[in-house]
Amino acid sequence: MPLTLQRPDLLRLTHYIDGRWCEAVGGARFEVDDPALVRAFASVPDGDARDAAAALEAAHAAFPAWRAVSARERSRALARWNALVLQHKDDLGRLISREQGKPLGEAVGEILYAASYIEWFAGEAPRISGDVIAAPMAGRQMLAVKEPVGVIAAISPWNFPAAMIARKIAPALAAGCTVVAKPAEDTPLTALALVALAEEAGVPPGVLNLVTASRANAASVVDVWLADARVRKLTFTGSTPVGQHLARESATTLKKLSLELGGNAPFLVFEDADLDAAVDGLMAAKFRNAGQTCVCPNRIYVHDAVHDAFVAKLAARVAALKVAPATDPLAQIGPLINAKAVEKVERHVRDALAKGATLVTGGQRLPELGPNFHQPTVLTGANDDMAFSREETFGPVAPVFRFTDEDAVVAAANGTPYGLAAYFYTRDVRRIARLAAALEAGLVGINEGAVSSEAAPFGGIKASGYGREGSRHGLDEYMQLKYLCQGGLDG
Ligand code: SIN
Repeated sequence: MPLTLQRPDLLRLTHYIDGRWCEAVGGARFEVDDPALVRAFASVPDGDARDAAAALEAAHAAFPAWRAVSARERSRALARWNALVLQHKDDLGRLISREQGKPLGEAVGEILYAASYIEWFAGEAPRISGDVIAAPMAGRQMLAVKEPVGVIAAISPWNFPAAMIARKIAPALAAGCTVVAKPAEDTPLTALALVALAEEAGVPPGVLNLVTASRANAASVVDVWLADARVRKLTFTGSTPVGQHLARESATTLKKLSLELGGNAPFLVFEDADLDAAVDGLMAAKFRNAGQTCVCPNRIYVHDAVHDAFVAKLAARVAALKVAPATDPLAQIGPLINAKAVEKVERHVRDALAKGATLVTGGQRLPELGPNFHQPTVLTGANDDMAFSREETFGPVAPVFRFTDEDAVVAAANGTPYGLAAYFYTRDVRRIARLAAALEAGLVGINEGAVSSEAAPFGGIKASGYGREGSRHGLDEYMQLKYLCQGGLDG
């Protein structure tokens, strides 16, 4: 089916460097697949080190002028960008659905989510302030001022092609930084369209630069930015091994880092929980984007006393989910991103069944819809030997573990190297206080499954990384403190 946009010029198929839409220096291109059909429908430049270097030169040259623009002006540029993103949300949603696969309603929802970060940081920019410090001796004035860190490199993932890049670029621009960005090779088109709208909003040439590259060439682009001391910060959302690599390689130039990495979120349902609310929360958290989010519950622990009732309610809801291509207006679960993703889901289900789990619903691929579709699945009898206890499934599989003891389940929930999200449902206020303190995660949903918000600090601990996106803390990631000490004022 052709990709029909109200604004066909939002389908941008070249790099954006120094205010120019351009091909890769080497002239190569790579194809972008529709994950529902596993068929190419567009192509973009396959950038390499030369394109990365050109983008960096542009961002470096643009930095002095952009940081000198008043925070109020930068805020206005972001506000104009936000308005354009909202105005074109349907086209942007279509681009997401086509390259990433999520149903159109959900894709437009992601655009609203992306825009909320742009709006938020448009609001934060004029409020940047530092400290006037009470000097411990006479005759001194002591100030702590905030400055933009400089050029930042943003490397964004495929699962939220708009929201993840927006929440990196918007605070960077608000702070007065300039940007070189590389979107995931699976989903470059949404990022390019967002950049086109930023250009239309009046973001000056060189301030925002975007280079696309295939999986094979991604490292040659990123390596240029990693090695160059002019890139003062790197922000990345993706897997823990890649995040570890980026942290190691950034060490030479001591870049500031924000790393939003893998997770293995526990979801705990206690015997006193409101079961309907818990099922609603789990559906929202687990099946958003077909289970392809870093904050998806990966291990669901349900108290023995409510286990069967909870599973019955959950299974009825999951079995009713409509799996279909994004073009179907009733679709709730789209295709997974690629063959590797479906194979992982199948491996986790197979492994669990071989180790004694029971299949309650789902469990199969849906080849009649396309090679990347998989049924949403509920398993019971999950245990710590199963692969999803250690690995993030990143797909629509909900494995249910049974528990009886609070201390034991908290230990199990924390028994992972990761620490991004955790959720629990209970009505006991003392337990809420205990678990809020005990759970090792950067984000904790308490009787709530949909925790993400532009107003909140998003990020993990342990192997889920460090740094925060969103909220006022998300702006500080792009700023550095400078202490000014003026003496001789007592004369
Ligand atoms: C992610 O999956 O990395 C982000 C999800 C969110 O922002 O809620």
